[in-house]
Amino acid sequence: MKSIFGDQIQICLFGESHSPAVGAVLNGLAPGIRLDLEFIQSQMDKRRAKGRISTARREADEVRFLSGFFNGYTTGTPLCLLIENQQTRSGDYEAAKWLPRPSHADYTAFEKYGGFQDYRGGGHFSGRLTAPLVAAGGIALQILKSHGIRVGTHILRLGDWKDTAFSSQETELEQQIDRLNGDGFPTLDADVEGSMIRAVEEAASEGDSLGGVLETAVVSLPAGVGEPFFCSVESKLSQLLFSIPAVKGVEFGLGFGFAGLRGSQANDPFRLEKDRVTTQTNHNGGLNGGITNGMPVLFRTAVKPTPSIYQPQDTVDLEKRENARLQIQGRHDPAIIHRARVVVDSMAALGLLDLLTERFGPRWMTEGTP
Ligand SMILES: Cc1cc2nc3c(=O)[nH]c(=O)nc-3n(C[C@H](O)[C@H](O)[C@H](O)COP(=O)(O)O)c2cc1C
Repeated sequence: MKSIFGDQIQICLFGESHSPAVGAVLNGLAPGIRLDLEFIQSQMDKRRAKGRISTARREADEVRFLSGFFNGYTTGTPLCLLIENQQTRSGDYEAAKWLPRPSHADYTAFEKYGGFQDYRGGGHFSGRLTAPLVAAGGIALQILKSHGIRVGTHILRLGDWKDTAFSSQETELEQQIDRLNGDGFPTLDADVEGSMIRAVEEAASEGDSLGGVLETAVVSLPAGVGEPFFCSVESKLSQLLFSIPAVKGVEFGLGFGFAGLRGSQANDPFRLEKDRVTTQTNHNGGLNGGITNGMPVLFRTAVKPTPSIYQPQDTVDLEKRENARLQIQGRHDPAIIHRARVVVDSMAALGLLDLLTERFGPRWMTEGTP
């Protein structure tokens, strides 16, 4: 199993939905990084389940540091963080032990681990595993922010409802990011928020679920970051983004939209602004050849509807080897997207921190660019 990611900054993820805890070990952090624990906790709160649009499983999600953190600073040794699972109701999953949920990882995990996998609450494939990712991402986001680099995500689409896209003006984009980061349900158009929430509640009342698209922007990244071929910014970030459970699509800049354009429409012409090389448009999402060009990095992430729905579904009984019907029990999110938003920010920050450290060395984390 490949539960370790990263080159300069490595993250190892562990735990299951109903194990005593979930957590992560971060390797490669420089010593002397002051950690703002309140910020990390506020990131955890963005991921926590709330209201009728999230699962009824409500966890405190308090982050505990077991190593690598002393007197308010990182020590430079492996940093282990842990989040307890306190609200497990494993009995909900006994009946469905042999009945895999369609489009969840129950069947594939059964095949891969030969029945030894922890099936309670989706085990290692639960959205619960994103809690330590958000805690680790909170550290990465702080380091980026101390160098002026900011990351923000909004819900571009939820079901049939659409938000306005990010501004193409950098100053306005920065303001949008700051606003979104203080928002529990991040949309740019305040009017669409209520409609999106109602759509999720409606789907939930019908025992159904909804998916959507997140749009993310990263501003103030220096030009020249990225390690082609195989660790280009696109390849590194997409590996992280596709590791988030329920993510099924990632596109940078215009992405699939490039297909219908001519080069004359798609290219981003350069211009010099106060001795800074910029581009007049940003169709390429701040990336050329997998390397940052200094413009905002822009990407979209598609999140599928939650697979656990309360309507009866066809499945198979893996024990009796016969077709079966499944009525799902347990507590589930009728939509994942509003909780996944902070996971996307976290994964982007972890990937970029890794690439920035590759480019400028570990001292960059505390001292800035040489
Ligand atoms: C924050 C978050 C919460 C999630 N909550 C649920 C849930 O309540 N019920 C569920 O069936 N899937 C949930 N998922 C998605 C499943 O974990 C995911 O669909 C499953 O592991 C199968 O992986 P795949 O969709 O990437 O193929 C959640 C994912 C995330 C990121």
